[in-house]
Amino acid sequence: MKRGLFITTEGTDGSGKTTQIKLIESYLKGKGFEVVVTREPGGTSIGEKIRSIILDTENSDMAYITEMMLYASARAQLVNELIKPSLSEGKVVICDRFIDSSYVYQGFGRNIDIELIERVNRIALDGIMPDVTLFFDIDPEVALERRIQSTGADRIEREAMDFHRKVYNGYKKLASMYPDRIKAIESNRNIEEIFSDVKAYLDKFS
Ligand code: TMP
Repeated sequence: MKRGLFITTEGTDGSGKTTQIKLIESYLKGKGFEVVVTREPGGTSIGEKIRSIILDTENSDMAYITEMMLYASARAQLVNELIKPSLSEGKVVICDRFIDSSYVYQGFGRNIDIELIERVNRIALDGIMPDVTLFFDIDPEVALERRIQSTGADRIEREAMDFHRKVYNGYKKLASMYPDRIKAIESNRNIEEIFSDVKAYLDKFS
């Protein structure tokens, strides 16, 4: 492999991404790949500080543009500090959320112009885009209920169901626009069934 493989995972809050990432990590390690797992927003010490500002429930008056730019700032740091160097060393990078989250949450959810998000993020991405994006497709109502019961709700998760539905519809739209990159995985099933689809799909790339 000349350059490593960049995998991102996406889905509404509570879609089961984290569990699947752990399984993917050990599966790919078992195949002999060097695997780096990270997340957005966060993944670097600067990014984690930005994350706590974004998700703080006290910051309820944060402007949507501020929010969009904070996500992009955390992303710029992660691309620069971890993703680019790891890919150039031939590693597999798995990132829990990436640019598509900004399109669906800030674009479809907050109604920020997609073109503006694209322009701001072009600087943050520095030419990096995922090779494979797994979209864990589950009705947001089912997913969020599951998430809040286990961890409590952060600032974004406190949004009304109407917001989460816009986000979900945004994912569906992106998946249909970029079928070569984004693979929807039916996720209202048990962990093993979901992972079996994920594995079959990843085998094409690794
Ligand atoms: P997480 O709970 O999956 O770690 O993600 C944190 C929250 O941030 C989640 O509700 C999705 C949201 N988010 C955005 O709104 N825009 C973004 O660009 C990213 C990466 C996450």
